[in-house]
Amino acid sequence: MTDKVSRRQLAKIAGVSAAAMTGALDAVEAKPAALPRNGNGFPAGFVWGTATSSYQVEGAVKEDGRGASIWDKFVRIPGKIEDGTTGDRANEHYHRYKEDIALIKELGCKAYRFSVAWPRVFPDGDGKPNPKGLDFYNRLVDELLKNGIEPWLTLYHWDLPQSLEDRFGGWRSTETCKIFGDYAAYVAEHLTDRVKNVFTLNESGRFVYFGYGIGIDAPGLTLPQADVNQIRHNSALAHGLAVQAVRAHGRRGTKVGPAENIDACAPAIDTPENVRAAEIALREMNAGYLNVIMTGRYTDAFLKYAGPNAPKFTDAELKIISSPVDFLGLNIYAPQNYVVASDQGGFMPLPIPKSFPRMNSDWLRVGPETIYWVPKLAAKIWKTDAIYISENGASGDDVVRPDGKIYDTDRIMYLRNYLAQLQRATTEGVPVRGYFLWSLMDNFEWVYGLNKRFGLYHVNFDTQVRTPKLSASFYRNVIATNAAGA
Ligand code: BG6
Repeated sequence: MTDKVSRRQLAKIAGVSAAAMTGALDAVEAKPAALPRNGNGFPAGFVWGTATSSYQVEGAVKEDGRGASIWDKFVRIPGKIEDGTTGDRANEHYHRYKEDIALIKELGCKAYRFSVAWPRVFPDGDGKPNPKGLDFYNRLVDELLKNGIEPWLTLYHWDLPQSLEDRFGGWRSTETCKIFGDYAAYVAEHLTDRVKNVFTLNESGRFVYFGYGIGIDAPGLTLPQADVNQIRHNSALAHGLAVQAVRAHGRRGTKVGPAENIDACAPAIDTPENVRAAEIALREMNAGYLNVIMTGRYTDAFLKYAGPNAPKFTDAELKIISSPVDFLGLNIYAPQNYVVASDQGGFMPLPIPKSFPRMNSDWLRVGPETIYWVPKLAAKIWKTDAIYISENGASGDDVVRPDGKIYDTDRIMYLRNYLAQLQRATTEGVPVRGYFLWSLMDNFEWVYGLNKRFGLYHVNFDTQVRTPKLSASFYRNVIATNAAGA
């Protein structure tokens, strides 16, 4: 586990009815206060949502013509998934999506971030589309809209078609980037009559390094750093091609942007020098993906540091990579670097003590101010006027008590503190326009299998019963009051 923490850090550097569930929710909460609060909450129109991803919740991996993804293969390698589980069944969301949408509605969310499983739509990644695969997303989107919930679609949340890995080496090849562009065009063409916001790739910062560098995510490879840097470049290129595809094939006005686990840097102590240091750190620590997307160039410091391992690229590629986006999606969970000013390179990341507080995952340090500083500095560096927190949330112990309830006061503590800091940011005018809580419900947490729970709703994976945790009531109150609360 400790091993996993340092790995995650390293990656950064380089069947019950909805009505029954509703009853349970009511039982543990006071009625929300009247809305909205004037001058003492989030801006009017702030987008409140929850998030999931295809492989983590859908299950039904062999149904209706879905092709295999790299995760279907990876989870079968002995020892790769902590509890030996797979996403074969997961939350059975493919069949239970209506029930799950009722849960979203119950929270009062007006937005839901989900991802399309590429191999459902194109079983081989390219070639002939599978209409039954697309139909699922048509049904999902229609049901969301019917319930007054805006669909926010992610094109890629790590379930690469296995066929592309087999034929081209997956993200090692720019062929995969081009095919991703075609897939993005197809999705945009068929869904943006109803889907107004599209995220390109989820967390290049993780899937590239974990998947191709240290082998703990699919496809499980351990390639040299030069290859990893090239693959990261390819992921940025894929992002740019997807942006262009959405512009060319989507309905006019469709908005598109990345959803990146930004390497989160914050000043260790709030002084002007350290804030400046954190700004430099944020740019440089994100030079391999976000910065090149937003500026069209790799920084000198990045290229110098990478040396012979630097990615090979052309000006034409940089132009595609930096195709203008409509928003910046930031996944912010834990502080990665507390920095102070330094004469050497402008910043110095401080070592993080072992005793730093964490949630129920070794990597998930609790640093609420991160969600204040990172958007604030990101808006300044990259001059964006629309930031969405595309993910934030926490794992918890989540014991079901004899009364059948889950009193996850630890998650509430985490959320309350992060949201208070986010509100601090919006109050100062930082252009954060929305927030997607990870996750709607417990799901298949990658390498941890079903061992880690991030949901607002507890899922019993034997019975598929969803039960609202106390944090669901908390979040419902936040949304209803449009404020973080005290
Ligand atoms: C984010 C991912 O990195 O964190 C999610 O986008 C993931 O898909 C979440 O579930 C929690 O990560 P982990 O590694 O604890 O499962």
